[in-house]
Amino acid sequence: MAFARLSTVVALALSAATLSNAALTKRITCATGQTTANAACCPLFSAVEFLQTNLFDGGECGEEAHSALRLSFHDAIGFSIHGGKGGGADGSILAFNSTELEFHANGGIDDIVARQFPVFEGLNLTAGDFVHLAAAVGTANCPGAPRLQFMFGRPPPVAPAPDLTVPEPTDSVTKILARFADAGFSPQEAVALLSSHTIAAADVVDPTIPGTPFDSTVGTFDSQVFLEVLLKGSLFPGNGSQPGEVLSPLHGEMRLQSDFAISQDPRTACFWQDMINNQARMMSEFKAAMAKLQVLGQPRLIDCSDVVPVPAPFAGPIKFPASFSQKDVQVACHASAFPSIATVAGPAPTVAPVPGS
Ligand code: HEM
Repeated sequence: MAFARLSTVVALALSAATLSNAALTKRITCATGQTTANAACCPLFSAVEFLQTNLFDGGECGEEAHSALRLSFHDAIGFSIHGGKGGGADGSILAFNSTELEFHANGGIDDIVARQFPVFEGLNLTAGDFVHLAAAVGTANCPGAPRLQFMFGRPPPVAPAPDLTVPEPTDSVTKILARFADAGFSPQEAVALLSSHTIAAADVVDPTIPGTPFDSTVGTFDSQVFLEVLLKGSLFPGNGSQPGEVLSPLHGEMRLQSDFAISQDPRTACFWQDMINNQARMMSEFKAAMAKLQVLGQPRLIDCSDVVPVPAPFAGPIKFPASFSQKDVQVACHASAFPSIATVAGPAPTVAPVPGS
């Protein structure tokens, strides 16, 4: 009898929990047929299609997708948790581009601003919503990427961010970590954000070789960049040594001084190494850090994440580029074992530049 009463109570509690979960996940159907958690998100489905057609060449993980992600960082990081800097993820880099593009750290950002501006004018979004939706959609075009959160409803930006908020590749690790901390990010979150350099290339570090990738799989959001930054360097891919660049292991590949320094520093080396061949960890840490970055300074927003396309998965595992192996790794973390990784067959590759850079 006591058992029967207990099971009734448990059954009632479970059905109450199911009901409240159902209420929490209740979805509405937009006039255009898609479903979402909030009716305010409905117009964004057509905005996403517009972006895919007019900015991302029909949904590619190309130059525009890469630089849309970089733009969201350069926009949002103009912020301090102590106040006195910019409005954070407010789109000021687009709206006040004539000011912010003058900053040295924004070198190369002029191309994506020029490319995005007419598309922005074709949509009824604020500059902040546009910049951060474009970053989420562009990233989703890259196989292996997490589906980034998108929060909607940023007001128009009121002023440009001040100069010297964006880290430079010539900065020391101490300076970079201090800047991230000032914006509210731990060293681990800073490393997580640098996962972005898996879909990245440089145009202005060495202007003689625009579109030079940071890893050998620039169209895939995999952990290859964390591995290749650790490989012993032997060459400069372009016109000799440039500020912010250190020796690269591969022809056609650029290694940033800051990425290498962060991979070697005792404060960050193990966070860096732990990303290698750990797709799930990289995806979840990057997603969480981006969710924080893309709402800096923006307190009241609506969750419209279900307008963001679902990225294709990465099949994995990653591999050493041909001719490289464990003996070429500059291990800087001794707290955990280095993962075991196979090598691609054949001669050392030359990494191709990103088209359209
Ligand atoms: C220590 C902090 C960072 C430094 C010093 C840094 C530096 C750079 C540099 C120098 C470039 C190449 C620019 C050029 O020559 O065109 C670049 C590209 C890029 N960065 Fe970073 N970055 C940092 C953090 C981040 C973060 C946090 C993100 C995003 C969350 C990001 C996303 C990108 C992307 C996607 C590109 C490639 C853009 C393209 O291919 O068009 N970076 N970064």
